[in-house]
Amino acid sequence: MLFVSRQFAAASKRAFSTSSYQNAAKVAVLGAAGGIGQPLSLLLKANPTISHLSLYDLFNTPGVAADLSHINTPAKVTGHLPDNDGLKHALTDADIVVIPAGVPRKPGMSRDDLFNTNAGIVRDLATACAQYCPKAHILVIANPVNSTVPIVAEVFKKFNVFDPRRVFGVTTLDVVRASRFVSENQDSSPLDTKITVVGGHSGVTIIPVFSQTPGLQLNESDLKALTHRVQFGGDEVVKAKNGGGSATLSMAYAGARFTNSLLDATVNGVKGITEPTYVKSDVLAKDGVEYFSTQVELGPHGVEKINGLGELTAYEQELLQAAIPELKKNIQKGFDFVHKE
Ligand code: NAD
Ligand code: LMR
Repeated sequence: MLFVSRQFAAASKRAFSTSSYQNAAKVAVLGAAGGIGQPLSLLLKANPTISHLSLYDLFNTPGVAADLSHINTPAKVTGHLPDNDGLKHALTDADIVVIPAGVPRKPGMSRDDLFNTNAGIVRDLATACAQYCPKAHILVIANPVNSTVPIVAEVFKKFNVFDPRRVFGVTTLDVVRASRFVSENQDSSPLDTKITVVGGHSGVTIIPVFSQTPGLQLNESDLKALTHRVQFGGDEVVKAKNGGGSATLSMAYAGARFTNSLLDATVNGVKGITEPTYVKSDVLAKDGVEYFSTQVELGPHGVEKINGLGELTAYEQELLQAAIPELKKNIQKGFDFVHKE
């Protein structure tokens, strides 16, 4: 625990803040036996704010839960399978539900190619959340995030329990990557290299805004290369894994960072925490884009304040214009999926 905690705290200052530790939250992970689910659950087990870590998957969660339950941190760990009302037990009284359930990409696939399989998985899990933990914060990792977040929102609306402050698309991996890639390019410390990334979570909808990092000067070729790398960083991992899936470990790190920030804001009363996340947003309302990721201040009820885009260079404006039609298409696809019956 000390080892994990030190490592993680060094990388994310608030990840394990214990100053006002209340040890009160139940966090459910759906898809907990998977490539992301297992390391994410491990990192969450190290957070002392979590009193109950509840793991749900189609298989293997009893084993994963038994294993994690030996770690000497406060969280009780329970494993649930679909039989015996497992999903209901996993979700009841949850404060936060993290959803990495769904299939990952193989080389040559886009995230949208996952829609046919993952849309139904996310819809069904969101339906269970709306029934068993309607007030929980829902953190969607399953791709395509640009569409799965609207799916969760539309399901919650059907049950009259939608609160836009509590449904989040997890886009943290994009800023984690941007920070790392820029620090490699600049020979700077990744811990001190903060990069703004806005938009959605796929290809051209991922918009790094390097101009907003004070002191960062990129020549044109680095600017273009780094922009492409941030937009298509996921493909690097898919290619390297060669059919074995997509990013799992870096995603677990990013997912834990976001979950821990939300716990600090909602449970530990820490003020002023901001994270990028894809939420229902007015930032691009004039362009008809209903969901968008910018820097969001987190508070006791989830989304406290959605920051605007800030100033963009002409190049960043071009990236934004390229993202808008794709985002609108992805959002509409999620909406239509829920309302097709
Ligand atoms: P994986 O196949 O290793 O794990 C997915 C898990 O989900 C499996 O254990 C599977 O049994 C489980 N699952 C499937 N249907 C389920 C259901 N109905 N209920 C509960 N569990 C179910 O995949 P992975 O590598 O962990 O990736 C999971 C998802 O996360 C993929 O869609 C991937 O594209 C996405 N992802 C998102 C980001 C991001 O930045 N948001 C990053 C990486 C991966
Ligand atoms: C990522 O960005 O790594 C994830 O969205 C997984 C993928 O399909 O690339």
